[in-house]
Amino acid sequence: MNIRIFKSEHELDAYGADFIASRVKENPASVLGLATGSSPIGIYKQFIALAKEKKLSFKEVQTFNLDEYIGLSPSHPQSYHYYMQMHLFKHIDIDEAKIHIPKGDHPDPEQACTEYDQLLEQIQIDVQILGIGQNGHIGFNEPAQELISGTHIVELDESTRKANARFFESIDQVPTHAITMGVGSILKAREILLIVKGASKAEAVHKALNGPITTSCPASLLQTHPNLTVLLDEDARRLLK
Ligand code: GLP
Repeated sequence: MNIRIFKSEHELDAYGADFIASRVKENPASVLGLATGSSPIGIYKQFIALAKEKKLSFKEVQTFNLDEYIGLSPSHPQSYHYYMQMHLFKHIDIDEAKIHIPKGDHPDPEQACTEYDQLLEQIQIDVQILGIGQNGHIGFNEPAQELISGTHIVELDESTRKANARFFESIDQVPTHAITMGVGSILKAREILLIVKGASKAEAVHKALNGPITTSCPASLLQTHPNLTVLLDEDARRLLK
Protein backbone atom coordinates (compact mmCIF):
# COMPACT_ATOMS: atom_id res chain seq x y z
CA MET A 1 0.00 0.00 0.00
CA ASN A 2 1.34 3.37 -1.00
CA ILE A 3 0.01 6.22 1.19
CA ARG A 4 0.68 9.84 0.27
CA ILE A 5 -0.24 12.82 2.41
CA PHE A 6 -0.74 16.27 0.88
CA LYS A 7 -0.71 19.72 2.47
CA SER A 8 -3.11 21.20 -0.03
CA GLU A 9 -6.07 19.97 -2.00
CA HIS A 10 -4.50 21.32 -5.16
CA GLU A 11 -1.34 19.22 -4.69
CA LEU A 12 -3.43 16.11 -4.00
CA ASP A 13 -5.56 16.64 -7.10
CA ALA A 14 -2.50 17.36 -9.26
CA TYR A 15 -0.83 14.15 -8.08
CA GLY A 16 -3.99 12.12 -8.69
CA ALA A 17 -4.51 13.58 -12.15
CA ASP A 18 -0.86 12.97 -13.11
CA PHE A 19 -1.09 9.42 -11.79
CA ILE A 20 -3.97 8.57 -14.10
CA ALA A 21 -2.83 10.73 -17.01
CA SER A 22 0.50 8.87 -17.08
CA ARG A 23 -1.38 5.53 -17.33
CA VAL A 24 -3.55 6.88 -20.17
CA LYS A 25 -0.48 8.20 -22.01
CA GLU A 26 1.17 4.78 -21.71
CA ASN A 27 -2.00 3.05 -22.88
CA PRO A 28 -4.46 5.36 -24.69
CA ALA A 29 -7.10 2.59 -24.58
CA SER A 30 -6.98 2.37 -20.77
CA VAL A 31 -10.07 1.28 -18.89
CA LEU A 32 -10.82 3.70 -16.04
CA GLY A 33 -13.13 3.01 -13.12
CA LEU A 34 -14.73 6.31 -12.17
CA ALA A 35 -16.28 7.57 -8.95
CA THR A 36 -18.61 10.46 -8.17
CA GLY A 37 -18.96 12.56 -5.02
CA SER A 38 -16.89 15.59 -4.09
CA SER A 39 -13.55 13.78 -3.72
CA PRO A 40 -12.62 13.28 -7.42
CA ILE A 41 -13.93 16.63 -8.72
CA GLY A 42 -10.52 18.33 -8.51
CA ILE A 43 -8.92 15.48 -10.48
CA TYR A 44 -11.61 15.73 -13.15
CA LYS A 45 -10.98 19.49 -13.38
CA GLN A 46 -7.32 18.77 -14.08
CA PHE A 47 -8.27 16.19 -16.74
CA ILE A 48 -10.39 18.86 -18.44
CA ALA A 49 -7.49 21.34 -18.35
CA LEU A 50 -5.10 18.72 -19.79
CA ALA A 51 -7.59 17.80 -22.51
CA LYS A 52 -8.16 21.46 -23.43
CA GLU A 53 -4.41 21.98 -23.73
CA LYS A 54 -4.31 18.84 -25.95
CA LYS A 55 -1.92 17.20 -23.49
CA LEU A 56 -4.25 14.26 -22.89
CA SER A 57 -6.79 12.49 -25.08
CA PHE A 58 -9.62 10.31 -23.86
CA LYS A 59 -10.67 9.23 -27.36
CA GLU A 60 -9.86 5.57 -26.84
CA VAL A 61 -10.42 5.45 -23.08
CA GLN A 62 -13.24 3.28 -21.76
CA THR A 63 -14.92 4.20 -18.50
CA PHE A 64 -17.01 2.29 -15.97
CA ASN A 65 -18.72 4.19 -13.18
CA LEU A 66 -19.14 2.63 -9.77
CA ASP A 67 -22.75 3.37 -9.06
CA GLU A 68 -26.01 5.16 -9.75
CA TYR A 69 -29.14 6.00 -7.79
CA ILE A 70 -32.23 3.96 -8.64
CA GLY A 71 -35.12 6.05 -9.90
CA LEU A 72 -33.19 9.08 -11.18
CA SER A 73 -33.07 9.61 -14.94
CA PRO A 74 -29.76 10.59 -16.57
CA SER A 75 -31.05 14.16 -16.89
CA HIS A 76 -31.78 14.48 -13.16
CA PRO A 77 -29.23 16.96 -11.76
CA GLN A 78 -28.39 14.64 -8.86
CA SER A 79 -27.99 11.49 -10.95
CA TYR A 80 -24.44 10.26 -11.37
CA HIS A 81 -24.99 10.26 -15.16
CA TYR A 82 -25.57 14.01 -14.96
CA TYR A 83 -22.66 14.52 -12.56
CA MET A 84 -20.29 12.75 -14.95
CA GLN A 85 -21.47 14.82 -17.92
CA MET A 86 -21.10 18.09 -16.01
CA HIS A 87 -17.83 17.39 -14.23
CA LEU A 88 -16.02 15.53 -16.97
CA PHE A 89 -17.50 13.96 -20.09
CA LYS A 90 -18.95 16.98 -21.85
CA HIS A 91 -15.60 18.79 -21.58
CA ILE A 92 -13.33 16.07 -23.01
CA ASP A 93 -12.97 14.15 -26.26
CA ILE A 94 -14.35 10.85 -24.94
CA ASP A 95 -16.35 8.56 -27.23
CA GLU A 96 -19.85 8.28 -25.75
CA ALA A 97 -20.03 4.62 -26.77
CA LYS A 98 -17.12 3.93 -24.41
CA ILE A 99 -18.87 5.40 -21.33
CA HIS A 100 -20.58 2.93 -18.99
CA ILE A 101 -22.70 3.83 -15.97
CA PRO A 102 -25.22 1.53 -14.25
CA LYS A 103 -28.73 2.34 -15.49
CA GLY A 104 -30.62 3.56 -12.45
CA ASP A 105 -33.74 4.27 -14.50
CA HIS A 106 -33.91 0.78 -16.06
CA PRO A 107 -37.47 -0.62 -15.75
CA ASP A 108 -35.90 -3.80 -14.35
CA PRO A 109 -32.96 -2.81 -12.09
CA GLU A 110 -31.95 -6.48 -11.56
CA GLN A 111 -31.57 -6.78 -15.32
CA ALA A 112 -29.52 -3.57 -15.34
CA CYS A 113 -27.14 -5.18 -12.82
CA THR A 114 -26.81 -8.36 -14.92
CA GLU A 115 -26.08 -6.33 -18.04
CA TYR A 116 -23.45 -4.26 -16.22
CA ASP A 117 -21.72 -7.40 -14.94
CA GLN A 118 -21.70 -8.86 -18.45
CA LEU A 119 -19.79 -5.78 -19.60
CA LEU A 120 -17.41 -5.90 -16.63
CA GLU A 121 -16.63 -9.57 -17.29
CA GLN A 122 -15.19 -8.66 -20.68
CA ILE A 123 -12.62 -6.19 -19.38
CA GLN A 124 -10.20 -5.46 -16.58
CA ILE A 125 -10.23 -1.98 -15.13
CA ASP A 126 -6.72 -0.53 -15.31
CA VAL A 127 -7.16 2.19 -12.67
CA GLN A 128 -10.13 2.35 -10.34
CA ILE A 129 -10.71 5.76 -8.72
CA LEU A 130 -12.43 5.47 -5.36
CA GLY A 131 -13.78 7.75 -2.67
CA ILE A 132 -14.92 6.51 0.71
CA GLY A 133 -18.14 7.10 2.63
CA GLN A 134 -18.04 8.31 6.23
CA ASN A 135 -19.26 4.82 7.17
CA GLY A 136 -16.48 3.15 5.17
CA HIS A 137 -18.53 2.38 2.07
CA ILE A 138 -16.91 2.10 -1.35
CA GLY A 139 -19.11 2.73 -4.35
CA PHE A 140 -22.40 2.11 -2.59
CA ASN A 141 -21.23 -1.09 -0.88
CA GLU A 142 -22.56 -0.30 2.57
CA PRO A 143 -21.32 -1.93 5.80
CA ALA A 144 -23.09 -5.28 6.15
CA GLN A 145 -22.65 -8.81 7.48
CA GLU A 146 -21.99 -10.00 3.96
CA LEU A 147 -20.69 -8.14 0.94
CA ILE A 148 -21.61 -8.95 -2.64
CA SER A 149 -19.02 -9.49 -5.33
CA GLY A 150 -20.91 -8.38 -8.46
CA THR A 151 -23.14 -5.47 -9.43
CA HIS A 152 -26.24 -5.37 -7.25
CA ILE A 153 -29.07 -3.30 -5.84
CA VAL A 154 -28.39 -1.83 -2.44
CA GLU A 155 -30.58 -0.13 0.11
CA LEU A 156 -28.75 3.00 1.19
CA ASP A 157 -27.87 3.48 4.86
CA GLU A 158 -29.66 6.31 6.61
CA SER A 159 -26.21 7.81 7.31
CA THR A 160 -25.37 7.75 3.59
CA ARG A 161 -28.69 9.37 2.67
CA LYS A 162 -28.02 12.06 5.31
CA ALA A 163 -24.47 12.63 4.06
CA ASN A 164 -25.71 12.95 0.47
CA ALA A 165 -28.77 15.06 1.36
CA ARG A 166 -26.56 18.15 0.94
CA PHE A 167 -26.87 17.70 -2.82
CA PHE A 168 -30.69 17.49 -2.76
CA GLU A 169 -33.37 19.93 -1.63
CA SER A 170 -34.28 17.69 1.29
CA ILE A 171 -33.47 14.21 2.59
CA ASP A 172 -36.86 12.93 1.36
CA GLN A 173 -35.62 13.43 -2.18
CA VAL A 174 -32.52 11.27 -1.70
CA PRO A 175 -33.23 7.90 -3.31
CA THR A 176 -33.48 4.92 -0.97
CA HIS A 177 -31.78 2.47 -3.33
CA ALA A 178 -28.88 2.41 -5.75
CA ILE A 179 -27.08 0.10 -8.13
CA THR A 180 -23.44 -0.42 -7.27
CA MET A 181 -20.53 -2.35 -8.66
CA GLY A 182 -19.66 -5.04 -6.10
CA VAL A 183 -16.49 -5.30 -4.08
CA GLY A 184 -15.29 -8.23 -6.22
CA SER A 185 -15.38 -6.09 -9.35
CA ILE A 186 -13.66 -3.21 -7.55
CA LEU A 187 -10.87 -5.43 -6.24
CA LYS A 188 -10.35 -6.95 -9.70
CA ALA A 189 -8.92 -3.62 -10.93
CA ARG A 190 -5.21 -3.66 -11.77
CA GLU A 191 -4.61 -0.54 -9.68
CA ILE A 192 -6.76 1.35 -7.19
CA LEU A 193 -6.47 5.04 -6.37
CA LEU A 194 -8.32 5.99 -3.18
CA ILE A 195 -8.86 9.72 -2.68
CA VAL A 196 -9.88 11.01 0.74
CA LYS A 197 -10.25 14.58 1.93
CA GLY A 198 -11.48 16.18 5.14
CA ALA A 199 -11.82 15.53 8.86
CA SER A 200 -15.21 13.86 8.48
CA LYS A 201 -13.41 10.93 6.80
CA ALA A 202 -10.58 10.54 9.37
CA GLU A 203 -12.36 7.75 11.29
CA ALA A 204 -13.24 5.90 8.08
CA VAL A 205 -9.63 6.13 6.86
CA HIS A 206 -8.35 4.81 10.18
CA LYS A 207 -10.78 1.87 10.13
CA ALA A 208 -10.16 1.13 6.47
CA LEU A 209 -6.37 1.16 6.58
CA ASN A 210 -5.43 0.35 10.20
CA GLY A 211 -8.39 -1.70 11.29
CA PRO A 212 -9.20 -5.37 10.78
CA ILE A 213 -10.46 -6.47 7.38
CA THR A 214 -14.18 -6.66 7.94
CA THR A 215 -17.41 -6.34 5.99
CA SER A 216 -18.53 -3.76 8.57
CA CYS A 217 -16.01 -1.43 6.89
CA PRO A 218 -16.11 -2.34 3.18
CA ALA A 219 -13.10 -0.11 2.46
CA SER A 220 -10.97 -2.31 4.76
CA LEU A 221 -11.04 -4.95 1.99
CA LEU A 222 -8.78 -2.61 0.04
CA GLN A 223 -5.96 -3.76 2.33
CA THR A 224 -6.00 -7.03 0.36
CA HIS A 225 -5.34 -5.30 -2.95
CA PRO A 226 -1.76 -5.66 -4.25
CA ASN A 227 -1.64 -2.26 -5.91
CA LEU A 228 -3.41 0.35 -3.79
CA THR A 229 -2.42 4.03 -3.70
CA VAL A 230 -4.09 6.27 -1.12
CA LEU A 231 -4.08 10.06 -1.43
CA LEU A 232 -4.98 11.86 1.80
CA ASP A 233 -5.07 15.43 3.01
CA GLU A 234 -3.84 16.28 6.52
CA ASP A 235 -7.36 16.23 7.97
CA ALA A 236 -8.24 12.81 6.58
CA ARG A 237 -4.95 11.27 7.84
CA ARG A 238 -5.36 12.62 11.41
CA LEU A 239 -6.17 9.26 13.05
CA LEU A 240 -3.94 7.13 10.84
CA LYS A 241 -1.18 5.18 12.60
C1 GLP B 1 -21.07 8.56 -2.37
C2 GLP B 1 -20.67 7.63 -3.54
C3 GLP B 1 -19.30 7.07 -3.34
C4 GLP B 1 -18.39 8.19 -2.87
C5 GLP B 1 -18.77 8.56 -1.46
C6 GLP B 1 -18.02 9.73 -0.89
O1 GLP B 1 -22.24 8.22 -1.75
N1 GLP B 1 -21.57 6.58 -3.83
O2 GLP B 1 -18.85 6.46 -4.54
O3 GLP B 1 -17.08 7.79 -2.89
O4 GLP B 1 -20.16 8.67 -1.31
O5 GLP B 1 -18.47 10.94 -1.42
P1 GLP B 1 -17.70 12.30 -1.25
O6 GLP B 1 -16.49 12.21 -2.11
O7 GLP B 1 -18.67 13.36 -1.71
O8 GLP B 1 -17.37 12.45 0.19
